[in-house]
Amino acid sequence: MAEPTSPGSMPPPKSDQAGPARVGPTGRETELSADVLAQQGQWLTTATGTRLRDTDHSLKAGRRGPTLLQDHHLREKITHFDHERIPERVVHARGAAAHGVFVANGNGEGICRAQFLRQGAQTPVFTRFSTVLGSRGSADTARDTRGFAVKFYTGEGTFDLVGNNIPVFFIQDGIKFPDVVHAAKPHPDREIPQAQSAHDSFWDFVSLHTEAQHHTIWNMSDRGIPRSYRTMEGFGVHTFRLINDADQTTLVKFHWKPRQGVHSLLWEESQLAMGMDPDLHRRDLADAIEAGAFPEWDLGVQVFPDSEDEMFEGIDLLDPTKIVPEELAPVQLLGTMTLNANPTNYFAETEQVAFHVGHLVPGIDVTNDPLLQVRLFSYIDTQITRLGGPNFNQLPINRPHAPVNDMLRDGMHQAQCIRVSPLSAELPRWGMPVHSRI
Ligand code: HEM
Repeated sequence: MAEPTSPGSMPPPKSDQAGPARVGPTGRETELSADVLAQQGQWLTTATGTRLRDTDHSLKAGRRGPTLLQDHHLREKITHFDHERIPERVVHARGAAAHGVFVANGNGEGICRAQFLRQGAQTPVFTRFSTVLGSRGSADTARDTRGFAVKFYTGEGTFDLVGNNIPVFFIQDGIKFPDVVHAAKPHPDREIPQAQSAHDSFWDFVSLHTEAQHHTIWNMSDRGIPRSYRTMEGFGVHTFRLINDADQTTLVKFHWKPRQGVHSLLWEESQLAMGMDPDLHRRDLADAIEAGAFPEWDLGVQVFPDSEDEMFEGIDLLDPTKIVPEELAPVQLLGTMTLNANPTNYFAETEQVAFHVGHLVPGIDVTNDPLLQVRLFSYIDTQITRLGGPNFNQLPINRPHAPVNDMLRDGMHQAQCIRVSPLSAELPRWGMPVHSRI
């Protein structure tokens, strides 16, 4: 191939790719085209846009050096490289994600006032699938629970449904979460085994904490090694509370049903895949979307009366180690999700996305499940470290598509502009939303 002698522009995204929607950090749409957000121009530049003539030779004092500290491009290039890793997620580090759309086509309206569940409403989504235990570079087909996290960018704020592919959890009280994760993660001395849930400290934990049996049996079943992210069910696990227009409440459990069916790998297949294609699930999802075979899931809920004791047919609805059989409470359809675009940049989108079970919209509320209560604390806490400060909701992939007027001020990477002062006559109820009733 001939060596290029004239400059060329950056290639556009491929046809199967889409980045985050073009909204500002305050949720308002911008007229900026996708090109404006991507690196551009015909020439290599510094981070501040000055054109570079050479990026292969550092500035030296004479032919044999030493290298000079005054070479700003050298220092900028090396400094940025030195800082290009961020902490991986403490759990669910290994993941793959895609953009898509959720269309409400069920009977959500009667039980929930959330606008994105109104018949025909279309809501952009970003969905991240993951393993729980492995490090970011681990193999996809390890035996493990899978994460199934969906961010709905609704007009009333962002709703995150942060679920798993198994309908129950190991523990009932969130205070044990560090213990179950430490038991299943690699041992602290040799840092092995990688990504494998079943080893001696894990067996110790699940034999001594009997509430873990139910999840362990699911984990050791075929569900522990899905064939593809496209062939997994998803579950909200906890019971949530829905509120309708008449302020009536119901208790629900969320379910995702894959239209591709539910399929698993054999143990031997998963072992081979780990060696031959450790990226099997990541590749499978991206290839399917690129080929136009968009995966689809129906979202539904099991609905229970919001009774004083929060029980249903003798089953404790606040206990995340229990399922409610679908024979007793069939899943009622709310809508369908289609994943139709791959990220344009893994790090900016899949790595930097931040889900939180507390990202709720009017009409959806949490319950007193003690596992859920601890999750409500944990996600934002870890994301402040993982994403380097408190303003990560302003990253393009995390920006709401609803207007943001949070009055949160300053901090690392603040990009919002807060224009009123505390004494402004335009904001007489300082500190309160202008309309507090939603
Ligand atoms: C008290 C119990 C739990 C605690 C303390 C906890 C904590 C965490 C933490 C710290 C993260 C990393 C978040 C990040 O860095 O952005 C995470 C990720 C995640 N958790 Fe939990 N978790 C708990 C239970 C659960 C349960 C029951 C589920 C499923 C219903 C679940 C599903 C997920 C998923 C899917 C992710 C990955 C989200 C993503 O793809 O970014 N977790 N969890």
